[in-house]
Amino acid sequence: MVDEVLDILEPERGGVFIDLTLGGGGHAAHVLRRGPQVRLIGVDRDPAAIAAAGAHLAEFQDRVTLVQSNHGQVREVLAELGVDTVDGLLLDAGVSSHQLDTPERGFSFSHDAPLDMRMGPDAQRVTDLIDDTSERDLAKILGTYGEIRGAGRLARAILRARAQGVLETTAQLAELAGPRRGKRVHPATKLFQALRIAANRELDSLEVVVDSLPDVLAPGGRAAFISFHSLEDRIVKHGVRSLEDGCTCPRDLPECACGFVQKVKRYGGLRRPGEKEIAVNPRSRSARLRGAVRLQEA
Ligand SMILES: C[S@@+](CC[C@H](N)C(=O)[O-])C[C@H]1O[C@@H](n2cnc3c(N)ncnc32)[C@H](O)[C@@H]1O
Repeated sequence: MVDEVLDILEPERGGVFIDLTLGGGGHAAHVLRRGPQVRLIGVDRDPAAIAAAGAHLAEFQDRVTLVQSNHGQVREVLAELGVDTVDGLLLDAGVSSHQLDTPERGFSFSHDAPLDMRMGPDAQRVTDLIDDTSERDLAKILGTYGEIRGAGRLARAILRARAQGVLETTAQLAELAGPRRGKRVHPATKLFQALRIAANRELDSLEVVVDSLPDVLAPGGRAAFISFHSLEDRIVKHGVRSLEDGCTCPRDLPECACGFVQKVKRYGGLRRPGEKEIAVNPRSRSARLRGAVRLQEA
């Protein structure tokens, strides 16, 4: 959804932009090309992504600063660079194609590999997550992040397999999810997604970024969020809404007395990829894009 992202961020305006999910630097390159006056800070928790993006963005290197960090630390990252606010912010959530397609990272059940799924060194291995989680909490993870029916039964089977020493690899995990039925999504897809989201605490850091928008965006600054999971999209949608109306006064009070000042509002509505994009890149099928802007006068 490159064009739609650029429509929101409008890099032609110039200024300091931050890409909080740099990946291979695909979106970042478009931003830098479209905005010759843009200085870009690229953040990723994955050292392999930082290396790949460094090579991909080599032609722009005098305008780019790369930081390996969790974007939940966005305020700290900016403070360390001596940057108060940014004019554009991009967060393209989830796992990258590079991560999915590197078998030894353990994100995919298409190849047998150790059960890892860490996006970066700050995350937990999936095997460690399973070992540290009770059956009840594991069932909750599978039900909430994977919308898996029979999550309790599957959680029990996973813990039993770990206890028996027969759950070390992606193939062993996929087998526990059961076979694919008809044209439905493979049950292992949901299982892998649920465990990946939990092991990488993906939703926590997204929430921090949305909450930080009033501080991090400069007046007129724009943010674009791409999400792939309904829970991510909900965090962005509700988070921005609550920034629009953060007044905590009782409803019957004639005037606001809590001192809330609105600084951020939605920028455009929900955007989804068109059929053409889905045909070229089937992984984009579930993508959702939302924008936000920092008000000029606040
Ligand atoms: C979907 S990919 C981004 C692809 C990128 N927009 C591009 O065009 O190449 C998501 C990237 O975000 C990174 N990531 C996910 N959660 C993160 C977090 N909490 N902090 C920093 N990076 C994160 C992943 O490591 C991955 O490289």
